[in-house]
Amino acid sequence: MTTERRPACSLPDCRSIAGFAVRALVVTGSVGGLVGGCDAAPALAPAALFPVAAATDWQEVRSCRFSVEHDGVHIRVVADAVAATPYLAAQYPLPVGSRVVKVEYDDAKCSHRVGFTAMRKSSAGLWEWQRTDANAGVQAMDPARCVGCHKAACVATDFVCTHP
Ligand code: HEC
Repeated sequence: MTTERRPACSLPDCRSIAGFAVRALVVTGSVGGLVGGCDAAPALAPAALFPVAAATDWQEVRSCRFSVEHDGVHIRVVADAVAATPYLAAQYPLPVGSRVVKVEYDDAKCSHRVGFTAMRKSSAGLWEWQRTDANAGVQAMDPARCVGCHKAACVATDFVCTHP
């Protein structure tokens, strides 16, 4: 697809394709060789990578629970039709077009939504990263931070941190 938005972060550091190569490197302990910086001035995607209705309409792949990422936030994870089945089967890397969205709430019942974070795998096999408010309004953020943490903790599972 040539109409794809520019990935928010497009250097090899952010790349999750070549799952085999990445995994092989992890096994040999030389993944550090892949580490580089992201664009100094990453472009924000102009629109949300997902519809706000994803919170209710997409398949829930992880039920409401406390987030280990940020204190005080409870989360659910939902996935689109491309990602849901392989996600639930833990088949990594996830296919191109996959969208995985973490819905954040400020209460333990996940009833009051406060925001979203999202990952979408572009046609180039790169994960795009996004943070939005509760209504899917795109917020400024540094994708290198997202990548850094997901890479450190979750590279063996295609940068996905909440395995079923
Ligand atoms: C400090 C580490 C850290 C940072 C920084 C971080 N994440 Fe995560 N992320 C996690 C962890 C851990 C999970 C597992 C769910 C949880 O406990 O919140 C997760 C889960 C997710 C998920 C659900 C799918 C999955 O991978 O399991 C998405 C989507 C996501 N993060 C997007 C983002 C985006 C976008 C950013 C940057 C704005 C970001 N993350 C920054 C650690 C991090």
